Amino acid sequence: GHRRSTPSEGSDIVSQGTSDYRDSGLEFAPDFLLGSATASYQIEGAATEDGRGPSIWDTFSHTPGKVWNGDTGDVACDHYHRWESDLDLMAELGLEAYRFSIAWPRIQPTGRGPANEAGLAFYEALVDGLIARGIRPIATLYHWDLPQALEDEGGWTNRATAEAFADYARILGERLGDRVAVWTTLNEPWCSAYLGYGSGAHAPGLMDGAKALAAVHHLNLAHGLAVSALREVVTNDPGFSITLNLHVIRPSGETGHEAARRIDGLANRVFLGPLFGDGYPADVIEDTAEVTDWSFVKPGDTELIAQPIDLLGVNYYSTVTVRMWDGVSPRVNADGHKDMGGTPWPGSQHVEFLEQPGPYTAMGWNIDPSGLEDLLIALHGAYPEVPLMITENGAAFDDVVTEGPDGPEVRDLDRIDYLRRHFTAAHRAMARGVDLRGYQVWSLMDNFEWGYGYSKRFGIVRVDYDTLERLPKASARWFAELIRTRRIPE
Ligand code: NOJ
Repeated sequence: GHRRSTPSEGSDIVSQGTSDYRDSGLEFAPDFLLGSATASYQIEGAATEDGRGPSIWDTFSHTPGKVWNGDTGDVACDHYHRWESDLDLMAELGLEAYRFSIAWPRIQPTGRGPANEAGLAFYEALVDGLIARGIRPIATLYHWDLPQALEDEGGWTNRATAEAFADYARILGERLGDRVAVWTTLNEPWCSAYLGYGSGAHAPGLMDGAKALAAVHHLNLAHGLAVSALREVVTNDPGFSITLNLHVIRPSGETGHEAARRIDGLANRVFLGPLFGDGYPADVIEDTAEVTDWSFVKPGDTELIAQPIDLLGVNYYSTVTVRMWDGVSPRVNADGHKDMGGTPWPGSQHVEFLEQPGPYTAMGWNIDPSGLEDLLIALHGAYPEVPLMITENGAAFDDVVTEGPDGPEVRDLDRIDYLRRHFTAAHRAMARGVDLRGYQVWSLMDNFEWGYGYSKRFGIVRVDYDTLERLPKASARWFAELIRTRRIPE
């Protein structure tokens, strides 16, 4: 009993064209929320402390061959012990918001049962420390560190995980539901489902298209159940949200539109459809018929998923260009994700991701701020009532520490240029009527970049992994100036 939508009703985030995006001086309103973002497994470390149970990322990162250089999150940025000085740093930069995530295995070490007081106390102190410094807490409940015990029962392929997630959400709502400004249920469920269970590039590292699609549904369900649970217990008036990494897709040539429809379906419409009450798209169900019969969708599920939300979180980095693979041209794995052998595109393996025109970041991702403007415009067009927030945007570059007049410094002009162009794109979208409420830069500090370990640095603050010292980069000063003046600096 799920409702279906036709492809023409979908988001069709398909875009064309580039332009310069190097304006400066553009102004942001006083209530436009400027801040930066991190995630628990990427920064906390202290992986076995205070009753934290193992997560799928502990298991995965400790499995040889899965993460660059064998890196793990065991120590990461040691934020678990340095949170107070990290908060002071945020205050120094003038951040108005901080988007962080809560590690489920610190709250429920096996994903079920009573709350671990030490875990709750850590996040309570963090939230209180933010509020004391005038920084608005944006809390993400799930940024990929699923308790391993739940994975042992099937993880996101198991409907029971969605139900457990609602219980976990309720525990947090009861403790922090008088203080958190914005609750985000899931971060980038596309990655959790398709990289975790399809391509194998992320934990738990499975390569099974049917499992990936079951995970999509159970993640959607988890979101809906968690919003309902939170709503029942919170006592302030927070925003409820989810953060998606929607794909901005540029079609190439004659077969480009077919390829774009397929990728828009798997990457965008399987989330947006159910989230906003249209159910799963009929064309995606059809495209994946040989992979799964979608019997994991039970009557009433799409209603459970379509809880009203106050904000849609948008993570944006780059664009993709696609066409159908005719079997003659060489297939380029240029969708920005490591090839572990499985596919992140169940039923659509014959979509070819073309090499993008540069420039590129250190991830090899193309820099294209017009994609951000296009994405915001498309979302506002499709869902005009839903306010948007950029919950991640930023770039990895090969930073160099040099000796300046006042000691070591990182003059990351490439990152400043990236941010300037994307802030300009966001501003242009707002000038065209998009209801954009804020912008969180990824990331506050260099951290564990998943399969790439510590080899990729996204921070506006450098972390020295030998000493764990923090050093604000030039981009941090640039961003602080933007926040202070509310204008895009030179
Ligand atoms: C998306 C993820 O949410 C975040 O964890 C990751 O580090 C950045 N993008 C960069 O890849």
